[in-house]
Amino acid sequence: MKFPDSFIWGAATSAYQVEGAADEDGRGVSVWDVFCEKEGKILDGSNGKAACDQYHLMEEDVELMAEMGIQAYRFSLSWSRILPEGIGAVNQKGIDYYNRLIDCLLRHGIEPFVTLHHWDLPQTLQEKGGWMNPESVSWFGNFARIAAQAFSDRVKHFITFNEPQCFIGLGYYGDYHAPGLNCSMREAFLAAHHVLMAHGQAVKELRKYGKQPLQIGFAPAGKFTYPKTDSHKDVEAAKKMLTDILPLEEWWWSMTWWSDPIFLGKYPENVAEKYKDILPAATKEDIELISQPVDFIGQNIYDGRMVECGKDGEPFFTPEPLGFPHTHIKSPVTPEILYWMPKFLYERYQKPVVITENGMSNGDIVSADGKVHDGCRIAYVERYLSNLKRAVSEVPVKAYFHWSLIDNFEWAYGYQERFGLIYVDYPTQKRIIKDSGYWYRDVIASNGECLP
Ligand code: BGC
Repeated sequence: MKFPDSFIWGAATSAYQVEGAADEDGRGVSVWDVFCEKEGKILDGSNGKAACDQYHLMEEDVELMAEMGIQAYRFSLSWSRILPEGIGAVNQKGIDYYNRLIDCLLRHGIEPFVTLHHWDLPQTLQEKGGWMNPESVSWFGNFARIAAQAFSDRVKHFITFNEPQCFIGLGYYGDYHAPGLNCSMREAFLAAHHVLMAHGQAVKELRKYGKQPLQIGFAPAGKFTYPKTDSHKDVEAAKKMLTDILPLEEWWWSMTWWSDPIFLGKYPENVAEKYKDILPAATKEDIELISQPVDFIGQNIYDGRMVECGKDGEPFFTPEPLGFPHTHIKSPVTPEILYWMPKFLYERYQKPVVITENGMSNGDIVSADGKVHDGCRIAYVERYLSNLKRAVSEVPVKAYFHWSLIDNFEWAYGYQERFGLIYVDYPTQKRIIKDSGYWYRDVIASNGECLP
């Protein structure tokens, strides 16, 4: 069995993690530039100033993508490269860079998928309050308009936000990610509300200024679940845990808190009721803006927890057996999640699904033969994709994006975690396609037929 003919096999990155050239051609400062300078925030004391230098090595990277047969590249725009101050004057050199990248991709037959925002807010906007400032809705709308005007003649697919859960939960409420505010829970909920409104505003601007009919989505994270067996009881138990109220300290991982307002036009009642004392007032107009129609559900999916139905009829998390596999970054390996989550998402939101990220970090080492034999990654992706293959025979899944195309700056972990299909020797910026990259080429060439 193959995947549908229209299925798209892609790979993903984000601007701050790969571009480098942080001080070149008029790019403004982002919150991540500032955060990386704080003592002790990045495990290896590094930053994204050079990263994998894709800004200069873009053509080589696109050629490597073509060599692997990659059909779509999901990358993000650096807001401060395009608008150094976040609002106001446009930096033409920033626009030129993305034009070169888009044109180069298209010359190689690779479809660009553009994420507007992958965590790197311009620092000047953070200094104005960032996402806590209600004006952030129009700042982001303005940025979306500029992106539509500049790129939508050639770019059909846009994603508004990548994983707002992380910058709100880990970066606003927490201080593990930029900007590291340690704000109150009330402020975090307010910022999240503005992000959702900014998403809606961006959808409006993209539709208004788009030069062709666009396909627009959103790429959240979440805490996912899957059932221990296919039995009705376990499946219902997994769904209940997926939509249940999370403890206050974790609410931002809730799938429903972010996706229900967008796709169903309302905040989930169970959570809204429980935390009503600290929630911002959401008007009917706010919700209308948030729930602008979008075309697909983007979802980053790495892992989930197994759930079963107890003898008393109550769901519970199945304990992990001893020696359960984990990746280098300590994520559990749960391939079934790529079967169950597309089904749960489609059932709840009734839109085609795009897996906007999935992949693993590995302790990759270059062998004496000069190659990178990352058998672990092949085992991981093969098992996840086999589950996805089962899902596509039941629900519409449009595309899969491997995270990541290339090893890169892994946020608070610096360069210690390697997620790429392409290995990077950072001191020389030399690239090596890993065994998994060649294996992925074969999967793409057979349109998934070679997957078990
Ligand atoms: C993010 C990526 C990150 C990846 C691996 C996702 O949370 O969108 O930027 O590198 O996971 O941790």
